[in-house]
Amino acid sequence: MNISFEKTFDNLITAVLVLNTRFEVQYANQATLSFLKTGRKQLYGNIVDDFVLFSSLDKTRFRAALEHHENFSENEVELCLLDESILLFDIGVTYIINEEQDLLLIEAKHIDQQKRISKENQQAAQQHAAKELVRGLAHEIKNPLGGIRGAAQLLAMELSSPEKKEYTQMIIKQSDRLRELVDRLLGPNSLPQFTWQNIHIPIEAVFQLVKLDNHYNINIVRDYDPSIPDVYIDANMIQQAVLNIVKNAMQALHDAQSKLPKIKIKTRVARHQVILGKKVPLCAVIYIYDNGPGVPKALRDTLFYPMVSSKQSGSGLGLSIAQTLIEHHNGKIELESRKGRTEFAIFLPITKHGETA
Ligand SMILES: Nc1ncnc2c1ncn2[C@@H]1O[C@H](COP(=O)(O)OP(=O)(O)OP(=O)(O)O)[C@@H](O)[C@H]1O
Ligand SMILES: [Mg+2]
Repeated sequence: MNISFEKTFDNLITAVLVLNTRFEVQYANQATLSFLKTGRKQLYGNIVDDFVLFSSLDKTRFRAALEHHENFSENEVELCLLDESILLFDIGVTYIINEEQDLLLIEAKHIDQQKRISKENQQAAQQHAAKELVRGLAHEIKNPLGGIRGAAQLLAMELSSPEKKEYTQMIIKQSDRLRELVDRLLGPNSLPQFTWQNIHIPIEAVFQLVKLDNHYNINIVRDYDPSIPDVYIDANMIQQAVLNIVKNAMQALHDAQSKLPKIKIKTRVARHQVILGKKVPLCAVIYIYDNGPGVPKALRDTLFYPMVSSKQSGSGLGLSIAQTLIEHHNGKIELESRKGRTEFAIFLPITKHGETA
């Protein structure tokens, strides 16, 4: 069997890096490039320190490994990267000799990611159960609702006094309101209509919609990567999911009366993602950023559950629906939020024409 080691190493989730005695990068696999957010051309031959702002692991340990031809490992090493993001790694360092050159082989396993994957799986199961419960309940409410409405209509025909008719009108109006809620709880009822589409088509539709509804004068900017290949999507579903998230951002900025309110809709590709335990080599990502108050801490763990809301008039369904729609595409939604910076990221797997995710 003829295996390309380069290709094999590029498919590892673990970052693999080879340094020479001057700490210059001799080899880096794809995971390393993704973590350092750089390319091989920029990295090879350069000193690895130039790509890291700070590390909790002392450099003397690496020097000692080279000097004494020793191996070592260290858990939970903190690395602060150039974009100031801090990541946690379990690191293994092995001394090797290649063509009479002393080298260090470094393996770095991102442990945040592992923790996140198990948390993601656990949350997905819980959310699924919550959604099923709510759907079951909604279904039970919907059945008699039609009967109640119909009976009120019949009763109205029997009544002559306008005052009494007001009561039947009230029953009809409230049944309609309840039906609308129940329909939202039951979620999208049509099957997805997948086609090959440019991801920016549904996003632009959202942009045009919210521009008309922008009473709080929010600065809404777009930053698209036009080179993203077509994705196999139901454009209406993607539009609805993005709209729900953008609307939340607008409401958050408005409710907090944020100064210089801003929303940014950005698209990029991301490589080597794990979505619900499955490795996805290439994704289209839609980022929706706002500079509002941040998601309330108390809601963070249950945000995507149905009926979780901090708003008086909110039904708490926007994000739950968005997640269901994205799950139909085998994608995921991630959230990073603190005061002054909230970013939702929608990951959609990019498959080749003729293949579904
Ligand atoms: N960009 C954001 N900034 C701050 N909080 C947010 C943001 N997006 C969502 N949230 C919080 O998440 C909660 C749930 O959002 P979700 O869209 O599911 O429901 P909702 O907006 O309250 O109601 P609905 O969308 O059904 O009208 C919101 O009530 C809000 O507290
Ligand atoms: Mg909402």
